[in-house]
Amino acid sequence: MKARIYITRKLPDEVVRGLQEQFHVTMWEKVDIPVPYEILEKEIQHVDGLFSMLTETIDEKLLQKAKKLKVISTMAVGYNNIDIAAASKQRIMVTHTPGVLTETTADLTFALLMAAARRVIEASDYVRKGSWKTWSPMLLTGQDIYGSTLGIIGFGQIGQALARRAAGFNMKVLYYSRSRKEHAEKETGAIYTDLESLLKESDFVSVLTPLTAETKHIIDEKELALMKKTAILINTARGEVVNETALYQALQNGEILAAGLDVFQEEPISMDHPLLTLPNVVALPHIGSASVKTRLAMAHLAAQQLIDGLHGKRPENTVNPIVFE
Ligand code: NAP
Ligand code: GLV
Ligand code: GLV
Repeated sequence: MKARIYITRKLPDEVVRGLQEQFHVTMWEKVDIPVPYEILEKEIQHVDGLFSMLTETIDEKLLQKAKKLKVISTMAVGYNNIDIAAASKQRIMVTHTPGVLTETTADLTFALLMAAARRVIEASDYVRKGSWKTWSPMLLTGQDIYGSTLGIIGFGQIGQALARRAAGFNMKVLYYSRSRKEHAEKETGAIYTDLESLLKESDFVSVLTPLTAETKHIIDEKELALMKKTAILINTARGEVVNETALYQALQNGEILAAGLDVFQEEPISMDHPLLTLPNVVALPHIGSASVKTRLAMAHLAAQQLIDGLHGKRPENTVNPIVFE
């Protein structure tokens, strides 16, 4: 008998077809609305596998309903939305999709850095609004990228890919991470520093850690105060690594110059959020890995890992290998 799986969002047809060959598939068919928690709570009782997104909260209460569940395959590298300890306790393997989205997310991080530095969105809005009357010497002047200093917090796959891009702009790259990466230092020329020095010396600060208990608000009032008045903060990790209230204050008071944000504490960000009132904030709707090619690769990898996990083969990227012991 075929195993049963639930897919929490409409996926590309070719990926769904592949899964239907192996499993009895139920899918939340909507594109722009996530599956409500109450529906997922019902569906999860009957399935052996779950194909999920970063928009689902997979907590202990939900997992306790999942009596048959063996695999959760999330189509993301970050898995802070899943209670891994609770899953492990029930011997449910959790797989994610690192690697395939690294370069695409580093591209977007660099795009956000450049957009914030050169006020690209503000300038485009200026043209569209009909404000452009003449060229003038100091109109919409921003910050130089070439030759500046980039500080990367969390020097993993995406952080290192960002450092490789920075080399082309002759940037000095500082990094702070949980562990030192001497091999990556040789490859990228990045210099390991403590967090305080990184914050003081960088023109751009990019956060690229996972969201964990340790990294929550790793950028808070104190860290923002250490940054240069001309510094620009880029967050393509998770919203909660930055204290948004403190960030708003720092931007409003001119303690830092600008911010480029792809992620927010609450997604979608509420339209009356104070950050959206600031012209020096570039806000994107969590599109770090959003290229056609990469999203397809992520979907295929997540599907393959679900297939492997349910067929008794070790998936390539298991977050909690403790379940194999
Ligand atoms: P990764 O390879 O695991 O890199 C994360 C790095 O952060 C690792 O080097 C890790 O250090 C470091 N780190 C962990 N905890 C830390 C701490 N407390 N202090 C300092 N450094 C710490 O992951 P990745 O593929 O680069 O992805 C990073 C994160 O980006 C993901 O977890 C996800 O949340 C986010 N992301 C966002 C988007 C988007 O659409 N905006 C797309 C992809 C990913 P060690 O090497 O010592 O473990
Ligand atoms: C996206 O944010 C991811 O974690 O893959
Ligand atoms: C600008 O367009 C210049 O020619 O300097």
